[in-house]
Amino acid sequence: MDTAHRSFPILVALFVLLFGVTSSQPYEEFLQCLEFHDSNITSIVYTRANSSFSSLLESSIRNPRFDTSATPKPLLIFTPRQISHIQSAIRCSRAHRIQIRVRSGGHDYEGLSYSTISPSLTFLVLDLRNLRAIQVDVPSKTAWAQAGATLGELYYAIAAESRTLAFPAGMWPTVGLGGHISGGGYGSLLRKHGIAADNVVDAQVVDVEGRILDRASMGEDLFWAIRGGGNTFGIVIAWKIKLVPVPASVTACTVTRTLEQNATEIVHRWQYVVDKLSNDVFFMVVLNRVVNPIQANATTIQASFNSLYLGSIEGLILMMEAKFPDLGLRRENCVEMSWAKSILYFAGFPLNSPLESLLDRTISATGSAKFKGKSDYVKEPIPISGFEGIWEKLKEVGVQTGGLILASYGGKMSEIPESSIPFPHRAGNIYQVEEVAFWVEDGVEAADGYLNWLRGLYEYMTPYVSKNPREAYANYRDLDIGRNGGGGEGDYRRARSWGSSYYKNNFDRLVRVKTAVDPANFFRNEQSIPPLSSWR
Ligand code: FDA
Repeated sequence: MDTAHRSFPILVALFVLLFGVTSSQPYEEFLQCLEFHDSNITSIVYTRANSSFSSLLESSIRNPRFDTSATPKPLLIFTPRQISHIQSAIRCSRAHRIQIRVRSGGHDYEGLSYSTISPSLTFLVLDLRNLRAIQVDVPSKTAWAQAGATLGELYYAIAAESRTLAFPAGMWPTVGLGGHISGGGYGSLLRKHGIAADNVVDAQVVDVEGRILDRASMGEDLFWAIRGGGNTFGIVIAWKIKLVPVPASVTACTVTRTLEQNATEIVHRWQYVVDKLSNDVFFMVVLNRVVNPIQANATTIQASFNSLYLGSIEGLILMMEAKFPDLGLRRENCVEMSWAKSILYFAGFPLNSPLESLLDRTISATGSAKFKGKSDYVKEPIPISGFEGIWEKLKEVGVQTGGLILASYGGKMSEIPESSIPFPHRAGNIYQVEEVAFWVEDGVEAADGYLNWLRGLYEYMTPYVSKNPREAYANYRDLDIGRNGGGGEGDYRRARSWGSSYYKNNFDRLVRVKTAVDPANFFRNEQSIPPLSSWR
């Protein structure tokens, strides 16, 4: 390279540092900036002109609702292979005023890791798919896992070392560790061991200045904030997690009951026992409309009770006969398996599926169906009449196109103080609710129909769920409950309303941390915690 060529990137970078850039082709200058920091870096940058751009973008869009021609697309996708690439991306994005959207597993309910609601926003996707190393250390019962790894990859790596260790996180294998733990992360071990973010003991983060921080160097405030407080305090590179003990064999069961089989009374009764059962039991109930199995050309409402027990089938049946006989649990409803296999069971894989299925990053939870979810917390049992109203709502949509998923709380969740980490939904909750709608039809009209139905269901639930604030789960992101400006510009007062739903009294501490670590609000999106300077 001659001298003129060598000095060109330096001049560009100097210009950028001194004056910033408002260019009509920001990506070219951004690329030159990257090249200045690392001469090989452009091989991991995919511009819109690159033939792999679309397939790369779509490969981890987990909600087809945000995979349309109308969805705003990034200027480029950047797939770092090492931390220095991320440091360069932050420096150059700041210099060129390009917003960064970080993507680990791509499951964001509102697509914010790869898209935006603002058509004019210039942004890039920093896709962490190449940063997914996992190191399990059985003697210390810990693991370091990079943020681009999926839950399935983590569970597989743990299972490869030990059948009696696990990690208390979510139940869908392709969910990414980056977003999941940043927002909390619950699964079948929550009543025994809390949520994923409760079990993080260290982390590696790149901050807005490009510094690589660990727990000691980031300090306890930032370390507190990244464990469930959303994900715009820095870029999480890796988590050090505490592994928890599980029996070599656990019991997974499914019992379905329709209205004709007393579903209403059983679900109603379930609410009185579920948070008081032994911490070894986790229950999830899926309520939806199905084809009636006993009446031709008719539909009914079905309650599907899925449970995980950290023990034997006999042990669970004895417990259910004593505490919840209404369910009528029988041996043939249950299967014993390793904890890692129970993840495949609950994800709907056939029983004989190999454990390697956990490594499949291409599986889709909804196929081509688009979806929207909302969430709630229930503190008092819903009366029978309340469920009858829910059934009426479910009858307004088609078979399996709308539903509710109830996940049992209590146990360890009630022992952890609300301010321990930003995720605040602890004592007093019987169960969490997810209200969800799915649709395959294309177009705005169809989408609006389902969205309106879902909003109507959410409205209907108001008297039965938490109030002041109406709590919501940050990992089930819902822009209906409030949002920042299109480019992510936050306004403290507006943000306080949705922020209290996700974080309750922890919201103000999150704002203070954000103000300290990213005062200019570089890491932002439509629902990021704003710094205090945004107070208007
Ligand atoms: P994605 O990559 O979309 O990231 C989500 C958010 O985190 C985005 O704002 C993104 O910018 C940010 N982010 C990602 N990586 C980051 C990083 N390294 N540093 C900083 N910010 C980062 N939840 C649950 O608790 N239990 C469950 O069982 C399930 N199951 C489930 C199934 C399916 C099919 C879906 C679609 C979702 C779930 N979830 C869930 C919700 C899930 O936990 C939530 O969507 C997570 O944010 C997903 O994390 P990903 O990394 O996959 O998403």
